[in-house]
Amino acid sequence: MKRIGVFTSGGDAPGMNACVRAIVRTAVFNGIEVMGIYHGYTGMIANEIEPLTTSSVSNIIQRGGTILKSSRSKEFMTPEGRAKAYRNIKEHGIDGLVAIGGNGTFTGALLFFEEYGIPTVGCPGTIDNDLYGTDYTIGFDTAVNTALDAIDKIRDTAASHDRVFFIEVMGRHSPYIAVHSGIAGGAEFVIVPGQMTPVAELVSALDKGWGRQKSSSIVLVAEEGVEGRATLIANDIREQLKDKGGIDIRVTTLGHTQRGGRPSAFDRILSSRLGMAAVEGLMEGRKCVMAGVLNDEIAYTPFKDTITREKNPHPDLIRMVNILST
Ligand code: F6P
Repeated sequence: MKRIGVFTSGGDAPGMNACVRAIVRTAVFNGIEVMGIYHGYTGMIANEIEPLTTSSVSNIIQRGGTILKSSRSKEFMTPEGRAKAYRNIKEHGIDGLVAIGGNGTFTGALLFFEEYGIPTVGCPGTIDNDLYGTDYTIGFDTAVNTALDAIDKIRDTAASHDRVFFIEVMGRHSPYIAVHSGIAGGAEFVIVPGQMTPVAELVSALDKGWGRQKSSSIVLVAEEGVEGRATLIANDIREQLKDKGGIDIRVTTLGHTQRGGRPSAFDRILSSRLGMAAVEGLMEGRKCVMAGVLNDEIAYTPFKDTITREKNPHPDLIRMVNILST
């Protein structure tokens, strides 16, 4: 392995820069050159490829977003797109890749390997924490803390006005951000993806809560691939409660605030560990695997498993939401 390429792909996540820094510095430490591929697979196809040195990654560990930019490339999912990308990878003498991203990114990397034999090691970069093969993904901890900061603030205003707030968090089809920020924020309810809206349950609980002087409540709603689920649910509840009177409902969608910002210490350390593990994995001849952390140890999981297998929060966490909100 003489020269590797690194890119970030899919939704950006806080900690991606710390990961790029670790990849570049670990490679340089081992005498390997690094090429930065900009805008993910889109830039691989468009030949947006430039050398990265130790100094290119100075002063980025604390920055959110990704200095390499990102994209979700439809063209790379076509054989023609991958053929163009391969020509550029060869032209730059790149022998291996480190891909920082999620399931879509690793699906592309697997196809690329099957067709052109370019080995890729992945780093799990997504706020959704939905990748099998790692306890935590890069950006998840920061996203939860961003959501928590908002929940705490909303709770102040909810209590002042005796209101019920429905707060929608991201996660695509993953429950993690909702469950973790809901527990940390003391939410009264958490509605996860795939869960039928428990309207009747919610209505009766709100009713009871009011009955025993609980004047405000927070309901955390995980989006379900698209924005707006919390608004739909809140409208439904409003309708159900309209004859009871007195329950004032508001909705806040946190959206992309959860994707930005300075990475937490946890994310910076995780990203650095995974970046180093990815380069070391390539040097050991690994291919089509994701570097993750399981029980505090580095673990390499085949892309085919990270892509197909599901990961879910420990059932105790879900149970806890119900117990602690009573
Ligand atoms: O995968 C990260 C994520 O932020 C999801 O939580 C969300 O559903 C999606 O990306 C939003 O994507 P985009 O920024 O392309 O709208």
